[in-house]
Amino acid sequence: MSLAVRDSLDRPLRDLRISVTDRCNFRCTYCMPAELFGERYAFLPRDEILSFEEIERLVGLMAPMGVRKVRITGGEPLLRHGLHELIRALGSIEGIEDIALTTNGTLLERMAGQLKREGLSRLTISLDSLDPVVFGAMNGDKLSVQRVLQGIAAAEEAGFAGMKINCVVQKGVNDHTLTELARHFKGTGHIVRFIEFMDVGTRNGWDLKQVLPAAEIAALIDAELPIETLAPNYPGEVARRWRYRDGEGEIGIITSVSNPFCGACSRARLTTDGKLVTCLFAEGGSDLRGLLRSGASDDEVRDRIQGIWTRRSDRYSEERTEQLGVERPKRVEMYQIGG
Ligand code: GTP
Ligand code: 5AD
Ligand code: SF4
Ligand code: SF4
Repeated sequence: MSLAVRDSLDRPLRDLRISVTDRCNFRCTYCMPAELFGERYAFLPRDEILSFEEIERLVGLMAPMGVRKVRITGGEPLLRHGLHELIRALGSIEGIEDIALTTNGTLLERMAGQLKREGLSRLTISLDSLDPVVFGAMNGDKLSVQRVLQGIAAAEEAGFAGMKINCVVQKGVNDHTLTELARHFKGTGHIVRFIEFMDVGTRNGWDLKQVLPAAEIAALIDAELPIETLAPNYPGEVARRWRYRDGEGEIGIITSVSNPFCGACSRARLTTDGKLVTCLFAEGGSDLRGLLRSGASDDEVRDRIQGIWTRRSDRYSEERTEQLGVERPKRVEMYQIGG
């Protein structure tokens, strides 16, 4: 039975991004800066985190509304105990065609094989630079670049091909190392995606001056590794695509600041503590955990979700571009929704 929903701008609900933990073993300056997330920072207690059963129930109710893709995020999702069991369960929900996971890669060496066996379709790995000093400065000097590269190698070994490598670009911080990163993965079948630094959350001191626009990123790569544009894989794809002129693969650039893509945004996000968030830049979300735990029936939960999506009108990135400087002092944090 199809219960497909459309929001107030006629956008369907297709993708659900689920944060399974607010913890991370990195302290990226643009997400969980170490000075704010120290030893004594209070992460969510266990009973406030959605259980796997609760997540499965929600996905089971949202698949008939149109959800086809699920992306598991964090914090660092591989820190969530028993994650492979959730992946297996989500894979058996009718309608779910694609289960992806975004990770910093540091725990992959141990876990890649099991993730593959349990049915994970795709992996995206965050890697901001191959230069150990730049990498350390951006990621809080936690674990080495080598450890991430070993994780990627283990994932290849386990059978993950065509992985995406996400690199947040900050002007004056890692822009001099982008070509090296592109070169490293050129010809491997993996796709490096450069992400314009975004004003997500409230804790990264974002400033437009730190954004290197997509056109400049492309020019920088093109100067050494000639590229040309490619058509999108599907309408509303987050990354703009380029391919190497010598046929050795492609790169992507995520232009959330210079060229927003809200028009086709079909993404909902579920926070670690069970709030449904309708935009990466939302002030907050709607509490589904409370509803589930109050003993609500499937019909009641479904009605709530349909109502939230039907009323949705978010298009933050486009609004930011139209009237640069829209202030939104309260925002969901990146480590609560995982991008
Ligand atoms: P697939 O197409 O499923 O491979 O994934 P994706 O292209 O959605 O990529 P991914 O989930 O890796 O997203 C990459 C980055 O793009 C995220 O980490 C965010 O920083 C950014 N991003 C993803 N979705 C959105 C969105 O809806 N709005 C904005 N502004 N940025 C987004
Ligand atoms: N701007 C752009 N990308 C970001 N990410 C985290 N914070 C930001 C930001 N402010 C990226 C991470 C990871 C994904 C989950 O989101 O590097 O690739
Ligand atoms: Fe952790 Fe990812 Fe945030 Fe970095 S961006 S602190 S790896 S959740
Ligand atoms: Fe979607 Fe909000 Fe991102 Fe626009 S800013 S693409 S509406 S998540």
